[in-house]
Amino acid sequence: MTLEEKAGQLNMVASFRAVTGPGEIQEVDESIRLGRVGSLLNIWGREEVVRVQRIALEESRLGIPLLLCHDIIHGHRTIFPTPLAEACSFNPALWEQTAHAAAQEARAEGVALTFAPMLDIARDARWGRMVEGPGEDTWLAAQIGAAKTRGFQGKDLNFTTSLAATAKHFGAYGAVTAGREYASADVSERTLLEVYLPPFAAAIAAGVAAIMPAFNDIAGLPMTANAHLLKDILRQRLGFKGVVISDYNAVAELLNHGVAQDLFEAAVLAFNSGVDIDMTSNAFINALPLAVDRGRVSLHEIDSSVRRVLHLKERLGLFDNPYPRDPSPSKIVKKDQDLHRSLARQAAQESIVLLTNKDQLLPLQETLTHLAMIGPFADDAAAMLGSWASAGHEEKTVSFFEGVRTALPNCHLELIAGVDAIKEDISEISHALEACREAQVILLCLGETAEMSGEAASRTDIGAPGAQRALAEAIFNLGKPVIVLLTSGRPLAAPWLFERADAVLATWQLGSEAGHALADILFGAVNPTGRLPISWPRAVGQAPIYYNQRATGRPTEIGVHYSSCYIDMLATPQFPFGHGLSYSLFSLLEFSCLTPLVKRGGCVEVGVRLRNNGSRSGEATLFFFIRDLVASVARPVLELKGVKKVILAQGQEEQVSFSLAVEELAFIGRELDMTLEAGRFEIFVGQSADPAGLLKQSFDLSL
Ligand code: NOJ
Repeated sequence: MTLEEKAGQLNMVASFRAVTGPGEIQEVDESIRLGRVGSLLNIWGREEVVRVQRIALEESRLGIPLLLCHDIIHGHRTIFPTPLAEACSFNPALWEQTAHAAAQEARAEGVALTFAPMLDIARDARWGRMVEGPGEDTWLAAQIGAAKTRGFQGKDLNFTTSLAATAKHFGAYGAVTAGREYASADVSERTLLEVYLPPFAAAIAAGVAAIMPAFNDIAGLPMTANAHLLKDILRQRLGFKGVVISDYNAVAELLNHGVAQDLFEAAVLAFNSGVDIDMTSNAFINALPLAVDRGRVSLHEIDSSVRRVLHLKERLGLFDNPYPRDPSPSKIVKKDQDLHRSLARQAAQESIVLLTNKDQLLPLQETLTHLAMIGPFADDAAAMLGSWASAGHEEKTVSFFEGVRTALPNCHLELIAGVDAIKEDISEISHALEACREAQVILLCLGETAEMSGEAASRTDIGAPGAQRALAEAIFNLGKPVIVLLTSGRPLAAPWLFERADAVLATWQLGSEAGHALADILFGAVNPTGRLPISWPRAVGQAPIYYNQRATGRPTEIGVHYSSCYIDMLATPQFPFGHGLSYSLFSLLEFSCLTPLVKRGGCVEVGVRLRNNGSRSGEATLFFFIRDLVASVARPVLELKGVKKVILAQGQEEQVSFSLAVEELAFIGRELDMTLEAGRFEIFVGQSADPAGLLKQSFDLSL
């Protein structure tokens, strides 16, 4: 290979299909012919894939197939709930299955690599990208990282149903200042190792093929130029052997960050810091050959990067056959379409979180004769898809209205938006009130449009936008039962709404089967199981908010002077991490610890009696937390260590046991190594992170 052909393998260019970042769509054919392109992004579909691969194979000197990439974030044709929504299921098997179904659909259309899973811990709801990730908790994010990697990649990347996965965005993207997109973060090495990086370690352990560094800088070092994190931590400490792909235009943006004076220097800096593939900056292809000649970049390092890229292409089977494998990929998709649709429905059911349910208004009786569906999201299929819907279609998406109409064909349904999702216009509210006149129950559909969360969609006001509050207050004033459905990519801070609504469901962005899944929950065909993967704030001023905090030197009670709280609002969330109601009612009876003293290599064994006091069978979710009471570094007041789901019939009681390996008690010690320290620990079980609902036991660790 010539040096230029090697640099070509490290060059990723955007195809004509879509633009997912700044810059213009380039003409790529001639560059492929010249061996100056190794991978393309934003491409799918048999015709185009065959066309570009043919150029690479038959018209370039070396005939190396292209690596075709796309953001398959939560589905390709069949759209599953957004990642934040799906995190609410606390169901690793489901996370794996939906990733696998998405991989199957995308690979059938020639995509070989996805830029997912996104594993950024997000504790600040101003940041719009919270929707793309696992929520606030490290343990949960690690489970998701492993499950998604297994799901996308399957047993072998060479299978026709597998996609290479990319864990992103390496670093602490979720910690951007004040939740503002692309902004700086300033996080300690301890916090990186303890909070932000374990999900990546889990994806790496599951064999993730690629890693994407984040756009932002950490304490002045943009992640694209952060040799310490990309080499010492990622390669050495975490043992990652795959490909590092820059984010879109991120190499060129090193100029904007002010750490490189021109594109040549940016390329040298990014490459020497550990980036293998330059996405869309055209920096590596132009600079690297010259940089080797000038002794600024080592040929050996170039060879290692190229080898990693070629090895990935080989593992994907692209050298044997780079074309979509079946002559009629639409058939493959057709065959599995029904299966994927029912999986999307199940995923959407498990993503819905029942936040409040006064006087057990839900589930609704199917005998209802008059319902009103009011609000900008009552019949908005596009909003159900979220901001990363790949090739998903609005026309193939079931809106809330459609779902309810299918479930209750004989019920009279009034449908009216009443207000726009964003504009302050209140002129139609009177029509909405009119439409509610005969209604026995009102379904009020509020929230955010798909564009209000996702990339470059940070908000300073995380309430219901536009005139939605005015509409809601007017509807509440009618005095009829009102169920609010919240469509959003983040928790919406709206205490007034939780106060006044009879029931509220977080319906996020549920994907292709949104309406059917909603109807399943509303009318009780399915008992809700979704639990929050974030602490739901009362006000934007509480951000960042998360359960896994350290104690301070002061008390936290409100009203006590010199305590760690706010003088104008509670410091607690509106709903705690793990919150989610069911139509059943579970109580935790005795909690016991069978191992008052544990040693290295052993296990902490606890058991709890769980009872379903409700009037129907249902699934309880139990969260197990620990607290390390005294350690050389202050430990959080609660740390999630495990989750158990248990199905119980009405009136049934069961003993649930949980076992925790002693090694799981280790933490990042003073010297930034994993450390196990002797001493007393507390272990808790509860149905959320709400301290008031936790049962506690303690045990000692002796070394
Ligand atoms: C920029 C986003 O940050 C990243 O997540 C995405 O994969 C790329 N654009 C490619 O679309």
